Amino acid sequence: MPRQEDVKAKVLETLKKVNYPGYNRNIVSFGMAKGLRVEGDKLTVNLAMKGVDAVIADQIKQEAIRLLKAESGFQTVEVTVENEPPPQPGSAHESEGSHQAFNPKPLAGIKYVVAVSSGKGGVGKSTVAVNLACAAAQRGLKVGILDSDIHGPSLPTLLGINSQPETEDEGFIPIEKYGLKAMSIGFLIESGQPLIWRGPMVNKALEQLYHSTLWGELDVLFVDLPPGTGDVQITLAQNYKISGAIIVTTPQNLALEDVRRGVVMFQHTAVHVLGIVENMSFYRCPDCKSITHPFGEGGGEREAADLQVPFLGRIPLDTKTRELSDKGIPVVVDDPQSESAQCYFKVWDQTYQRLTKLSES
Ligand SMILES: Nc1ncnc2c1ncn2[C@@H]1O[C@H](COP(=O)(O)OP(=O)(O)OP(=O)(O)O)[C@@H](O)[C@H]1O
Ligand SMILES: [Mg+2]
Repeated sequence: MPRQEDVKAKVLETLKKVNYPGYNRNIVSFGMAKGLRVEGDKLTVNLAMKGVDAVIADQIKQEAIRLLKAESGFQTVEVTVENEPPPQPGSAHESEGSHQAFNPKPLAGIKYVVAVSSGKGGVGKSTVAVNLACAAAQRGLKVGILDSDIHGPSLPTLLGINSQPETEDEGFIPIEKYGLKAMSIGFLIESGQPLIWRGPMVNKALEQLYHSTLWGELDVLFVDLPPGTGDVQITLAQNYKISGAIIVTTPQNLALEDVRRGVVMFQHTAVHVLGIVENMSFYRCPDCKSITHPFGEGGGEREAADLQVPFLGRIPLDTKTRELSDKGIPVVVDDPQSESAQCYFKVWDQTYQRLTKLSES
């Protein structure tokens, strides 16, 4: 008769075949396989989750049962799920998790930390982050922006900053431009230098940026996350004490698939999703002013409704926005009355309303 340890090891191997829906990571690596019990012909497995959507939790459970029945050799297989509700923003447990690569203290003097993320690269996340930050600053708030994309920093280009931050004994003084305090690894390296750092070094660099930037008092710190929903993003989401996350998408189906993954990631890491912003939503002909939808229509709003998260608004596809971005001038700064800039203001007002509501609840 096989030893209990051997049986448990085999059961774990089977559970490693159950992926978290939408990820290529299994539930064991997420630390969910907590209790395994063997009594005669009966196997009981307890899956411990935190704030996982009930539909997803059930999907995981059913897949675990199916595989364990097929592979474990037990006559009876019981899988129980413990699904703790997500912690409230600001609570002591908010950043607990199994992916802690670093553990920064909450940043004193910063009221809200807003992550800007996207499941997919190139959807305009950094452009949205910069323009929302400028909109917030123009509304009179004290605003900072941190570029946490170590491999492809965009703030030097988007804000037209070529200088290096001054240092004081305690750390870096963020560079001020357009009423924002900005910090990016791109300010510290020579432009065009490829960064070939790997996991632990990336985390070390981010930790340094996070800890050593002297932000002072801020109402909002925007954190431009790298694209995707991999380990780096999960670590960041769990460690940045994020008040809420904005997910940027474009209207195509492919991008929307990634939105789903982004929402699931934040739900799993118990970060509040403030809502979805649809970028490149429509194009207004500069001559006849008629509107077309080069990437489809209404996808972001439908997806937000499906995923039961707020829809924060649309940003047009706009040649001027791109041209200005390349020159380091956010459209909100260049022409606050333009249609694009007004859309950013609208999205920011919606976002801020949700943030303040969140901290009241
Ligand atoms: N609304 C828009 N209209 C026109 N061009 C846009 C718009 N938003 C972004 N762009 C352009 O799309 C390109 C990608 O934008 P951006 O760098 O902001 O994307 P990203 O999602 O941050 O990319 P990455 O995944 O590499 O971080 C840039 O050239 C930018 O100027
Ligand atoms: Mg970017």
